[in-house]
Amino acid sequence: MLLEVKGMNTFYGNLHAIWDIDIQVEEKEIVALIGSNGAGKSTLLKTIAGSIPMERGTIVYDGKSFGPGYGRKASRMVKLGMTLCPEGRHIFPRMTVEENLKMGGYTRKKGELSAGYDRVYSLFDRLKERRSQPAGTLSGGEQQMLAIGRALMSSPKLLMLDEPSLGLSPLLTEKIFELILEIRNQGTTILLVEQNAVSALSVANRGYVLKVGHITGSGTGKELLESQEILASYLGG
Ligand SMILES: Nc1ncnc2c1ncn2[C@@H]1O[C@H](COP(=O)(O)OP(=O)(O)OP(=O)(O)O)[C@@H](O)[C@H]1O
Ligand SMILES: [Mg+2]
Repeated sequence: MLLEVKGMNTFYGNLHAIWDIDIQVEEKEIVALIGSNGAGKSTLLKTIAGSIPMERGTIVYDGKSFGPGYGRKASRMVKLGMTLCPEGRHIFPRMTVEENLKMGGYTRKKGELSAGYDRVYSLFDRLKERRSQPAGTLSGGEQQMLAIGRALMSSPKLLMLDEPSLGLSPLLTEKIFELILEIRNQGTTILLVEQNAVSALSVANRGYVLKVGHITGSGTGKELLESQEILASYLGG
């Protein structure tokens, strides 16, 4: 088991956003987390990443256990191989593509950066062609590739992707999901948040359904794709 979340609770002031959540991710799995707007998907990823505080619960990551008070540990978790590619990309628009990638590799030794660039450029040939271009001038799809590439620069064991297909055309969405499969096949475990439930569940080994801060369903990607409830709620069926 690479990640086990037990009884996780997260608050924003008085707002109880995440309720007693249990999640497990095995090494080299793609696990999808689906749910509608405001369900708490981003909050869950940010809590796991240590960028917002966990009120109650336990996170066991790669054999290390973290209890209540976990939070504001994001940079330590990146060093341990857990990286979040946030919703909305948050690239640095005035920096070039390559400078953005370098920022993603800030926890790595200088000598390890070139292997990082090689991996990213072989996955995303568009980024290689545009390595000296200011990131703000990239298309939306290219910016999403850059955000994923930047996250890969830390050489994560666990890569968390928050809505990687948001705002992309159907063709680019398909391409992004192909790349997600390829990244997993290279050995990186993936926890994927998506509103695009069909695509996410099609590539996922397993999935969880999140509704107003609660897990209301789980199963293999195939089981969830065939579930009537999921069909009705998320797949427009
Ligand atoms: N910084 C914050 N302060 C207060 N409340 C917040 C904050 N961030 C999120 N929330 C609230 O927490 C709940 C869950 O939000 P979250 O962003 O995790 O949902 P989501 O499932 O990622 O939604 P979306 O699909 O729209 O991205 C929402 O009710 C939201 O308004
Ligand atoms: Mg979100």
